[in-house]
Amino acid sequence: MVRSIFASLVIIFVSASYSLAAGDTVTYEKDIKKILGEKCMCCHGAGSPLMEEFDKNKDGFKKKITGPRFDTYSNLMVVVNGSDAGALMRRLDDGENTKDGMPGNMFQNLGCSAEERAANLGKIKKWVGSWNLKKRKELAEDELKAITAPER
Ligand code: HEC
Repeated sequence: MVRSIFASLVIIFVSASYSLAAGDTVTYEKDIKKILGEKCMCCHGAGSPLMEEFDKNKDGFKKKITGPRFDTYSNLMVVVNGSDAGALMRRLDDGENTKDGMPGNMFQNLGCSAEERAANLGKIKKWVGSWNLKKRKELAEDELKAITAPER
């Protein structure tokens, strides 16, 4: 009797914490799309070049203040765990993980106040799962896998 009550309690506890954790997951669709829509899309939206085109004429696009296109989940993943892995993390880091202690040059776009920048960075960090500033070829297989960044 005691044992079965205990077993039920364990099940209740485990399932409650599981559903809490699931509700807490930061996803592209639920959280990230909105932040990027407000803060990044004027320069990285549907009118921007895909990374491939951008790379062919970086200086030209920079002069026009146009960055590569991050309008969809897959276009964004290029700079998360794709060919340009870690670029999102390098550009958005607040200086805590950079070699020179300076924030990445896109960090300022995360908000108008220190609080807003910190809150948005916190969300994005949680979404990425493992905040790693390394380049694609420097990332070990397990480090790459640790970058979760779920779509839904
Ligand atoms: C005012 C325009 C502007 C805004 C707003 C902006 N960016 Fe950028 N971004 C650029 C330009 C221009 C470049 C290319 C020049 C450079 O590399 O700095 C760039 C480059 C980048 C890169 C590097 C791409 C590569 O070549 O690997 C990342 C990542 C990035 N931005 C992320 C963001 C994020 C995330 C936001 C929103 C929080 C954002 N940017 C907001 C203009 C902008």
